[in-house]
Amino acid sequence: MVTNRRNFILGAGGSLALVSAAGFWHVTRMPKKAIEPWQLDPDPPADARMDAFRHAILAPNPHNRQPWLIQLEGNDSAIISCDLDKRLPETDPFDRQIVIGFGTFLELARIAAAEREIRMDMTLFPEGEPQPRLDTRPVARLTFVADKTVRRDPLYKAILARRTNREIYSQSAPTARQLAALQAGDVNTTSDPALLGRLRAITVAAISDEMNTRRTMMETVRLLRIGRDEVDAAGDGLALTGPMIEATRSLGLTSRETLADPTSAAFKIGLDGQRKIYDSVPAAFWISTPGNTRAEQLEAGRRYVRATLRAAALGLAIHPMSQSLQEYPEMANHLAEVHTLLGASLDHRIQMLARIGHAPSVTPAPRLPLQSHIVA
Ligand SMILES: Cc1cc2nc3c(=O)[nH]c(=O)nc-3n(C[C@H](O)[C@H](O)[C@H](O)COP(=O)(O)O)c2cc1C
Repeated sequence: MVTNRRNFILGAGGSLALVSAAGFWHVTRMPKKAIEPWQLDPDPPADARMDAFRHAILAPNPHNRQPWLIQLEGNDSAIISCDLDKRLPETDPFDRQIVIGFGTFLELARIAAAEREIRMDMTLFPEGEPQPRLDTRPVARLTFVADKTVRRDPLYKAILARRTNREIYSQSAPTARQLAALQAGDVNTTSDPALLGRLRAITVAAISDEMNTRRTMMETVRLLRIGRDEVDAAGDGLALTGPMIEATRSLGLTSRETLADPTSAAFKIGLDGQRKIYDSVPAAFWISTPGNTRAEQLEAGRRYVRATLRAAALGLAIHPMSQSLQEYPEMANHLAEVHTLLGASLDHRIQMLARIGHAPSVTPAPRLPLQSHIVA
């Protein structure tokens, strides 16, 4: 079953209360333009770089900001840099997660290039690693080289099927065999009930604190796209779609104002829904790096997207729960607790934490067209 809304703020619990108001709405009011980038033309572009990048823009990335700028150079190279206006200063004050979202982009580009027997050579941060925040310097310089020895990646086939799935997960955990396949040596997984119980206490507390902190909540609220028309017009951000959203939006019940107001029913329903979602963790996985350099953040992104592709191939749902890993002061206790709980030594950094399991499938998230990322 494919659900018709992205379960972001108006969680599953809350939406039940609104179902009768929504009953009359037609399911067909789903985004169209914003999901066109997922419908790849079967005739690939002649320029192998554009083929790689049309896959890369489908990468998971924080709050779906899609901050990737692509400058084509000569016939075979490209400079990748960050659209600095698309960072998330409240929840990601050091741009760590944004950089992870460049790692996911680069890995999908590499996999897609390999499919055409093209090797994508990367020089990461060729002008140095920007700290403590990103700046206009490039994140990567890429060169695409024809190479018959390059190995095709079986994960290529999962690129179009991959989703972030924010539904409530069924209680049955993935099997040990599925977890082992997901792990593939570069991520950690657990389905240990005792550990998951302690982890859920942290993830639920962290999402509650984030939503109850005005400035971090507003960063999310500003990026909500409510209903098909907004989603199609924006092509980015966090889409709330489906019959219930359309109906409650037209009644004025679901709006940025109501979702931002802690005294409103929409906010309370949203918070309750999020708590249920972050409490629904049949299994978890995390990715840590020995340090926290920009190169390690990129590497974490590459590992993360590979894990999501493996999950898609295995038919597993996956959903990052990043709040407790974030660096703003209200998260400091959760950040320390989650590192202690998952046994990451002090200098190790947990870069990604996600839940995995079985859930109804979801529709693709919006994307901006590839051309909008190309800069002169
Ligand atoms: C570094 C990083 C952190 C993320 N953290 C969260 C999170 O805490 N909660 C969430 O719902 N999605 C999170 N996501 C998923 C993105 O919101 C998602 O990739 C984006 O909306 C696009 O949707 P898609 O993955 O279905 O294409 C994260 C993604 C990345 C790369």
